[in-house]
Amino acid sequence: PANKLIVLGSVNADHVVQVNAFPRPGETITGHGYQVLPGGKGANQAVAAARFGADIGFIACLGSDDFGTRMEQAFREDGMDTRAVMAVPDMPTGIAFIQIAANGENSIVISAEANACLTPAMLEPHLNYLRQAQTLLMQLESPMETVELAAFEARKAGVAVILNPAPARPLSDALLAALTMITPNETEAEMLTGIKVTDAASACTAAHKLRDKGVQSVLITLGAQGAYYSGPEGERLIPGFRVQATDTTAAGDTFNGAFAAALQEGLDVDAAIRMAHAAAAISVTRLGAQTSIPYRAEIDTFLQSKS
Ligand code: RIB
Ligand code: NA
Repeated sequence: PANKLIVLGSVNADHVVQVNAFPRPGETITGHGYQVLPGGKGANQAVAAARFGADIGFIACLGSDDFGTRMEQAFREDGMDTRAVMAVPDMPTGIAFIQIAANGENSIVISAEANACLTPAMLEPHLNYLRQAQTLLMQLESPMETVELAAFEARKAGVAVILNPAPARPLSDALLAALTMITPNETEAEMLTGIKVTDAASACTAAHKLRDKGVQSVLITLGAQGAYYSGPEGERLIPGFRVQATDTTAAGDTFNGAFAAALQEGLDVDAAIRMAHAAAAISVTRLGAQTSIPYRAEIDTFLQSKS
């Protein structure tokens, strides 16, 4: 499938509790509104891209539990190709414990569970499928050896490789050199380059450090300031949209999924970033990860209201 965007990554059951403010070490506080919601950076990005309208294949491991079964069904309902979504026997689906503060900020602890089973050996049977894609999009909630194998094989086959390096982990030079694009946020960019990223100027310096390692283009998200692009199409800051935040969980995932899908559709970098900013802005006004990810029509309506 030549126009397929393949997402490789995690699936998590997000155990969400709302709090006024985060507890300090040793403190017990009362939260409210406990819910178990679909999440995981891989699944969130795949859902965002599918709802944008891209032809999505998802490579993931989930548990052989009720949550995993329901997630696989939900992915199909979002129109994804789930042939490479694998249910691992006797393993629970990945877990995230999420606290959402009154200002919309979150604090997350993850436990990989079935996501840790997405080993190179588990990926192996799907490598031919992967080689036929146009683009591969990954994050870092999967084993690093698997992320590397997928990137190297994709690169060899001429598949564009986009890495959203979240959560932040050190990356090998070989992996960086295999990437078409990397999309860190400020803290991830700092961790990868040692440069404190706070604005367009520092983002530019960090981006060039990553490009010197062989990454073709760099897109650094800067929260409310927007996103800084540095690559073959030039250098610029593309501002985002200001909205009242309810829950920022998966805003970055929504941005990445919509961005990759928009590029896949043939939009230029500026138009794709604008679409991605709109999708992320909508997502932060709603609770939860996948429950907050908009469909294409909502993104188009949002952008019309801004023009
Ligand atoms: O990026 C947000 C996601 O991070 C949540 O859905 C949670 O599962 C963690 O993976
Ligand atoms: Na949200």
